[in-house]
Amino acid sequence: MKTRVAINGYGTIGKRVADAILKQPDMVLAGVTKTKPNYEVKLALSKGIRIYASSAERIKLFDDARVKVSGTLDDLLKQADIVVDCTPGKVGASYKPVYEKAKIKAIWQGGEKHDVAGFSFNSTCNYENALGRDQVRVVSCNTTGLCRSLFALDKAFGIKKTRVVLIRRGADPAEDSKGPINSIVPDPVTIPSHHGPDVQKVLPHIDITTTAFAVPTTLMHVHLLNVELNRDATEKEIFEAFSQYPRIRIVSAAEGIGSTSEVIEYARDLGRHRYDMPELVIWKESVKSFDREMYLTQAVHQESIVVPENIDAIRAMTRLTESGEESTKLTNTSMGLGR
Ligand SMILES: NC(=O)c1ccc[n+]([C@@H]2O[C@H](COP(=O)([O-])OP(=O)(O)OC[C@H]3O[C@@H](n4cnc5c(N)ncnc54)[C@H](OP(=O)(O)O)[C@@H]3O)[C@@H](O)[C@H]2O)c1
Repeated sequence: MKTRVAINGYGTIGKRVADAILKQPDMVLAGVTKTKPNYEVKLALSKGIRIYASSAERIKLFDDARVKVSGTLDDLLKQADIVVDCTPGKVGASYKPVYEKAKIKAIWQGGEKHDVAGFSFNSTCNYENALGRDQVRVVSCNTTGLCRSLFALDKAFGIKKTRVVLIRRGADPAEDSKGPINSIVPDPVTIPSHHGPDVQKVLPHIDITTTAFAVPTTLMHVHLLNVELNRDATEKEIFEAFSQYPRIRIVSAAEGIGSTSEVIEYARDLGRHRYDMPELVIWKESVKSFDREMYLTQAVHQESIVVPENIDAIRAMTRLTESGEESTKLTNTSMGLGR
């Protein structure tokens, strides 16, 4: 039996999760909600995706635009085994009573607090702990990137402590009302930023302090990591450790991928839909080892990195497979990741 998935909120993350579900052999997309009948609705309908109005009050908007919806969110929830909440940050938590009333499993995104589900998820770090759960939060794009590299380093060498500077994109490409336009904003100005404590929701034993800045760019986030390991590690050993994880992609500035815009150009040249790069990108030249201390610089494509994690979370919660390795392999193959 295939798992039937509903998506509440069809924006940056929601439309990518929807497209990924359409590629899974063990899932079907029951439908998605929209608040308004814009071009995204027409495109979704042309792909055969069922559209539901986010609430009964909004049906009239769709009727007026002569766009056919299949019902409301409540109707959609009756057609599904699990809902992936992709509504804007802090809005998702307001739907918790709705999902609970409908007795449906629910996934939230990183814009919600850990407490919304009481469990924060990353495929590589804690798939098995999500098995059969009714409520899960997939951590944010930045936290997902940090979990991927830190898990690999911790597994191979043990981490004594890690200090991270995050340079965050100011907004997603379509968000023309957000900024900053001409500023570098300590975001927050206090230390730590929320990212370190968020990583600890997934990897509680990691000693991590993070500080973050928002800058006027829309393409990707960049992180500079300084990690103290429990034992000496050569650069060769560090690359060997990362090579075990298909969702980590090593790129080289010497080969022409020396900035976030060149990573995006690379994604375009790979033929990636929407120029997505769900893999965590690490610059080869930035990996520098000083015995037990190391540095690296990594880039996170905020719009897509959490998409494979959502797919694995669905598989774990609905017990499509008990093995995280099997799920990630299936997700990677269907989405063309790690190649
Ligand atoms: N974008 C990122 O970089 C990123 C990365 C990782 C995690 N996240 C997290 O993912 C979640 C979704 O973010 P996003 O960037 O995808 O947001 P988004 O692009 O703004 O999309 C949210 C969608 O939710 C719909 N919506 C708005 N208000 C709603 C409501 N009250 N009820 C139901 N639907 C509503 C909107 O649909 P209509 O178009 O129909 O109005 C909108 O398209 C957030 O928790 C965010 O923190 C975002």
